[in-house]
Amino acid sequence: MKISLGTDHAGFLIKNKVINFLQSLGHEVVDYGTNSAESCDYPDFAYKVALDVSSNKSQKGVLICGTGIGMAISANKVPNIRAGVCWSKETAQLISLHNDANIICVGARFASFEDICDWIKIFLETKFEERHSKRINKIIQIEKDFCTNNK
Ligand code: RB5
Repeated sequence: MKISLGTDHAGFLIKNKVINFLQSLGHEVVDYGTNSAESCDYPDFAYKVALDVSSNKSQKGVLICGTGIGMAISANKVPNIRAGVCWSKETAQLISLHNDANIICVGARFASFEDICDWIKIFLETKFEERHSKRINKIIQIEKDFCTNNK
Protein backbone atom coordinates (compact mmCIF):
# COMPACT_ATOMS: atom_id res chain seq x y z
CA MET A 1 0.00 0.00 0.00
CA LYS A 2 0.99 3.63 -0.24
CA ILE A 3 2.20 5.03 3.09
CA SER A 4 3.12 8.61 3.93
CA LEU A 5 5.81 9.01 6.57
CA GLY A 6 7.18 11.89 8.58
CA THR A 7 9.50 12.37 11.53
CA ASP A 8 11.00 15.23 13.47
CA HIS A 9 14.66 15.30 14.55
CA ALA A 10 13.98 12.71 17.28
CA GLY A 11 12.63 10.28 14.69
CA PHE A 12 15.16 11.15 12.01
CA LEU A 13 17.79 8.79 13.41
CA ILE A 14 15.66 5.77 12.45
CA LYS A 15 13.70 7.28 9.55
CA ASN A 16 15.65 5.76 6.66
CA LYS A 17 15.77 2.35 8.32
CA VAL A 18 11.98 2.45 8.80
CA ILE A 19 11.51 3.41 5.15
CA ASN A 20 13.73 0.49 4.09
CA PHE A 21 11.74 -1.82 6.33
CA LEU A 22 8.42 -0.68 4.83
CA GLN A 23 9.78 -1.04 1.29
CA SER A 24 11.02 -4.54 2.10
CA LEU A 25 7.38 -5.40 2.94
CA GLY A 26 6.38 -4.18 -0.54
CA HIS A 27 4.94 -0.80 0.44
CA GLU A 28 5.40 2.46 -1.44
CA VAL A 29 6.61 5.20 0.92
CA VAL A 30 6.16 8.95 0.52
CA ASP A 31 8.91 10.52 2.64
CA TYR A 32 8.09 13.96 4.06
CA GLY A 33 11.31 14.26 6.06
CA THR A 34 12.79 15.58 8.17
CA ASN A 35 16.11 15.21 6.40
CA SER A 36 18.63 16.01 9.10
CA ALA A 37 19.12 15.75 12.86
CA GLU A 38 18.68 19.51 13.19
CA SER A 39 15.89 20.54 15.56
CA CYS A 40 12.54 21.02 13.81
CA ASP A 41 8.83 21.20 14.57
CA TYR A 42 6.79 17.98 14.54
CA PRO A 43 3.45 19.64 13.51
CA ASP A 44 4.94 20.48 10.10
CA PHE A 45 5.45 16.79 9.31
CA ALA A 46 2.25 15.59 10.97
CA TYR A 47 0.29 18.02 8.81
CA LYS A 48 1.78 16.80 5.51
CA VAL A 49 1.24 13.14 6.33
CA ALA A 50 -2.27 13.77 7.66
CA LEU A 51 -3.26 15.70 4.52
CA ASP A 52 -2.22 12.75 2.32
CA VAL A 53 -4.16 10.24 4.40
CA SER A 54 -7.18 12.52 4.78
CA SER A 55 -7.42 12.96 1.00
CA ASN A 56 -6.72 9.26 0.27
CA LYS A 57 -3.47 10.04 -1.54
CA SER A 58 -2.02 7.47 0.86
CA GLN A 59 -3.83 4.64 2.59
CA LYS A 60 -1.95 4.92 5.89
CA GLY A 61 0.52 7.19 7.68
CA VAL A 62 3.51 6.69 9.96
CA LEU A 63 4.69 9.51 12.26
CA ILE A 64 7.72 9.34 14.54
CA CYS A 65 8.84 11.93 17.08
CA GLY A 66 10.33 11.64 20.56
CA THR A 67 7.18 10.30 22.20
CA GLY A 68 4.70 10.00 19.31
CA ILE A 69 2.37 12.24 21.29
CA GLY A 70 2.99 15.60 19.60
CA MET A 71 2.60 13.97 16.21
CA ALA A 72 -0.72 12.41 17.24
CA ILE A 73 -2.10 15.63 18.71
CA SER A 74 -1.21 17.50 15.51
CA ALA A 75 -2.43 14.87 13.02
CA ASN A 76 -5.75 14.46 14.81
CA LYS A 77 -6.62 18.10 14.05
CA VAL A 78 -6.96 17.19 10.35
CA PRO A 79 -10.40 15.91 9.24
CA ASN A 80 -10.73 12.16 8.65
CA ILE A 81 -7.62 11.39 10.69
CA ARG A 82 -7.51 8.92 13.52
CA ALA A 83 -3.89 8.89 14.69
CA GLY A 84 -3.01 6.56 17.55
CA VAL A 85 0.09 6.40 19.71
CA CYS A 86 1.54 2.89 20.18
CA TRP A 87 3.91 1.57 22.79
CA SER A 88 3.49 -2.22 22.49
CA LYS A 89 2.37 -4.95 20.10
CA GLU A 90 -1.04 -4.97 21.75
CA THR A 91 -1.61 -1.23 21.36
CA ALA A 92 -0.43 -1.42 17.73
CA GLN A 93 -3.08 -4.06 17.10
CA LEU A 94 -5.80 -2.25 19.03
CA ILE A 95 -5.51 1.10 17.24
CA SER A 96 -6.52 -0.75 14.06
CA LEU A 97 -8.91 -3.28 15.57
CA HIS A 98 -10.87 -0.90 17.81
CA ASN A 99 -10.06 2.66 16.68
CA ASP A 100 -9.77 2.20 12.91
CA ALA A 101 -6.65 4.37 13.09
CA ASN A 102 -5.22 5.50 9.77
CA ILE A 103 -1.96 6.86 11.21
CA ILE A 104 0.40 5.21 13.70
CA CYS A 105 2.50 7.45 15.94
CA VAL A 106 5.51 6.13 17.82
CA GLY A 107 8.17 7.53 20.13
CA ALA A 108 11.73 6.99 18.98
CA ARG A 109 13.08 7.96 22.41
CA PHE A 110 11.15 5.22 24.19
CA ALA A 111 11.43 2.19 21.92
CA SER A 112 13.97 0.27 19.89
CA PHE A 113 14.01 0.36 16.09
CA GLU A 114 13.07 -3.33 16.08
CA ASP A 115 10.03 -2.79 18.32
CA ILE A 116 8.89 0.18 16.24
CA CYS A 117 9.07 -1.92 13.06
CA ASP A 118 7.11 -4.72 14.73
CA TRP A 119 4.40 -2.28 15.81
CA ILE A 120 4.12 -0.63 12.40
CA LYS A 121 3.80 -4.05 10.71
CA ILE A 122 1.09 -5.14 13.14
CA PHE A 123 -0.78 -1.85 12.66
CA LEU A 124 -0.70 -2.20 8.87
CA GLU A 125 -1.78 -5.85 8.87
CA THR A 126 -4.63 -5.58 11.37
CA LYS A 127 -8.14 -4.93 10.08
CA PHE A 128 -10.80 -2.86 11.83
CA GLU A 129 -13.51 -4.81 13.66
CA GLU A 130 -16.89 -3.60 12.44
CA ARG A 131 -18.45 -4.12 15.88
CA HIS A 132 -16.71 -0.89 16.92
CA SER A 133 -18.31 1.17 14.14
CA LYS A 134 -20.81 2.91 16.40
CA ARG A 135 -17.98 4.54 18.36
CA ILE A 136 -16.06 5.52 15.24
CA ASN A 137 -19.22 7.14 13.89
CA LYS A 138 -19.44 9.17 17.08
CA ILE A 139 -15.87 10.37 16.56
CA ILE A 140 -16.79 11.32 12.98
CA GLN A 141 -19.84 13.20 14.27
CA ILE A 142 -17.70 15.25 16.70
CA GLU A 143 -15.53 16.23 13.74
CA LYS A 144 -18.56 17.18 11.63
CA ASP A 145 -19.86 19.37 14.45
CA PHE A 146 -16.69 21.47 14.24
CA CYS A 147 -15.69 21.32 10.58
CA THR A 148 -18.17 23.24 8.46
CA ASN A 149 -16.49 22.13 5.20
CA ASN A 150 -16.69 18.45 6.18
CA LYS A 151 -20.47 17.86 6.43
C1 RB5 B 1 11.24 17.16 20.51
O1 RB5 B 1 12.21 17.46 21.48
C2 RB5 B 1 10.04 16.47 21.15
O2 RB5 B 1 9.29 17.35 21.88
C3 RB5 B 1 9.21 15.78 20.08
O3 RB5 B 1 10.00 14.87 19.38
C4 RB5 B 1 8.00 15.00 20.55
O4 RB5 B 1 8.35 14.08 21.53
C5 RB5 B 1 6.81 15.76 20.89
O5 RB5 B 1 5.75 15.21 21.19
